[in-house]
Amino acid sequence: MLIGKVFDQTSTTEFMAMLDREYDNEKLLSSYIELSLDGGEPKPNSEPIIIARITKLQKENPLLSRDQASVSASIGDIGYHMSRRFTYSWAECTVIGTLTVSGFLDMNRCSVTPNAEVHSISETSQRQLFFSDKPSHLPLGTIESFGEGDTSQVPVTLNADELVTKHFCIFGMTGSGKTNTSAKLLEELMARGHRMIIFDSHDDYINIENFSNLFCDRDSNGNKKELKCRVNDRNCDAVELAKEQLNPNASNNRPKNECVCERLIRTASVIYHNKPARQIVAEGCKKITPKLVNALSNVNPWNTLIQNRQVCSKSSFPELKYYGDDFQDFSINLLEAFQGEQFSDAQLRWLRGNINQRGVGIQYLNNLQNALNNNPPPGRGGTREAIEQKLQGLINIYNDARRTNARSIDLELFFQCIADRAKAIPQTVYRLSLTDLSNNLRKALVYGVVTYFFRSFKYRDYQATSKKGQPNAYPILFVLEEARSLIPKSSSDDIDISGKLARRAMREIGYEGRKFSLGFGLISQKPSTVDAEVVSQSNTLILHQLKSPDDQKYVRDVAESMSQEDLEMVKSLGTGRAIVTGVAIKSPVLLRVDFRYSQEGIEEPRPIENELRNTTEIRNKLGI
Ligand SMILES: Nc1ncnc2c1ncn2[C@@H]1O[C@H](COP(=O)(O)OP(=O)(O)OP(=O)(O)O)[C@@H](O)[C@H]1O
Ligand SMILES: [Mg+2]
Repeated sequence: MLIGKVFDQTSTTEFMAMLDREYDNEKLLSSYIELSLDGGEPKPNSEPIIIARITKLQKENPLLSRDQASVSASIGDIGYHMSRRFTYSWAECTVIGTLTVSGFLDMNRCSVTPNAEVHSISETSQRQLFFSDKPSHLPLGTIESFGEGDTSQVPVTLNADELVTKHFCIFGMTGSGKTNTSAKLLEELMARGHRMIIFDSHDDYINIENFSNLFCDRDSNGNKKELKCRVNDRNCDAVELAKEQLNPNASNNRPKNECVCERLIRTASVIYHNKPARQIVAEGCKKITPKLVNALSNVNPWNTLIQNRQVCSKSSFPELKYYGDDFQDFSINLLEAFQGEQFSDAQLRWLRGNINQRGVGIQYLNNLQNALNNNPPPGRGGTREAIEQKLQGLINIYNDARRTNARSIDLELFFQCIADRAKAIPQTVYRLSLTDLSNNLRKALVYGVVTYFFRSFKYRDYQATSKKGQPNAYPILFVLEEARSLIPKSSSDDIDISGKLARRAMREIGYEGRKFSLGFGLISQKPSTVDAEVVSQSNTLILHQLKSPDDQKYVRDVAESMSQEDLEMVKSLGTGRAIVTGVAIKSPVLLRVDFRYSQEGIEEPRPIENELRNTTEIRNKLGI
């Protein structure tokens, strides 16, 4: 759709466009536009086109001085329409690149033709830029750009391989939609069977496998709309056949049909070119057929994904024990993280010789204490006393932790059940609930799990991708919700030992994890309070609204691909709107994130609305 013309001088990277009057009131800011190389109408399917973005809008009325403006205002509507006739709208545009016919976004090498036609981006170009139907791409939402009819529903997909190996961060103020966005990403990764460990600070993902919201849509104002399933009890032919052929052993207390049906829909979304699952439901589930089930049965990973539950939830703290000769320092560091205190050099010297005690948990700590009695450190007893105090402290912390719902996890067994292909459980997602744990133990758990996994890949014989023969381990994604409290920014007088260790573990993944197919995703309200080194290793950023100047500055420093204009926009994004930038997408994009399929952990609290629910009744009685 023609919306204006290029005006004045141009370059390969920037130009000004004068907008036609009928479009100058549209939501054009940050929208994509397209131009042909010769200045005529762009033909995205048959020739390369220049893609640009509107970065600034301004208006000018050369005939209207201040005095005239006040006169024109004083004659009301007529004055307004008269002055509008002579008002021009300008758009400052930045060239993104040249989009080739095959969908490759190349550098633009020729200056934009003066007086060229400026068109809003066509659906074809939007798809080429932001959508891929490969199963390795995840649909996250729809593009927010002024385009064909302004109702185009082009799904935006992110490259999942880039996300899970080059790390991602989701930032935004409270209530801006971070958890929804990350849940959406995790659901899509789950539908593809990627293994992950979620450090769930507030039980936001407690219902991550209850996909009831798959049957519920939201309009652009956030209002819920029910989508009807065409079959009662979700018991259609395809579901019946899947139950028969795959024998799903859904062990939760909802009807099995429901689970199988939801898994089939999400799988169909991947198979049918990344069509968002909710769209499949909205179209009457025509794609969920016995033919699909037949094609999927006996084919890995699809049959296991439809057959099994995928999430295992636990409230856990890391088990204290001797983790073997390769993990001597790790075992000592784990004690430090557990108690949030460092050992002195003299204490470390003794520990190194005695850390290899038998037993686990309290028994292990008791054995250490016995060793201390039988084989005390040299010197006048100060070191011995200090170690004794620390061991007693550890026993107290361990006992306190056991009094909650949390249970200890042996990290070697945990590693095997998630990462070791020969021993792993069918569940692909391990959700570690942190709500029962003290601040220290939360960080100790991050340190313990992440370091144990990283070192198992680095120093033991585990490989997630192997050139020779079969890989013996799975790639893993670590997800840290509320990252600020788990890997806080370091400070010069850092006394937070467990935070320091957790940070170190995540930095290792940041710098070297990619080689082993280990990645992380961070979610945080305040990016500036999260460890900068970890964030700087994250190559995809998903930004919701951020108002604080600190956070904006921080993001500007870490996100090289982000323009000043995009940063400006981050200040005013509404709930569920996000800017995605980085390696998982060809060009930064503003999108409306789809509502998650799974039920929220905590519903949006509305205490006042709930308390005053009877107001409507009173208003009705009073005829108001
Ligand atoms: N993409 C979206 N579409 C529709 N509604 C959304 C979307 N994202 C979020 N919401 C609404 O906004 C509410 C808050 O979202 P969410 O819990 O994801 O925010 P948050 O940034 O994680 O907040 P907090 O920092 O407090 O954890 C949700 O309960 C949901 O109702
Ligand atoms: Mg949240």
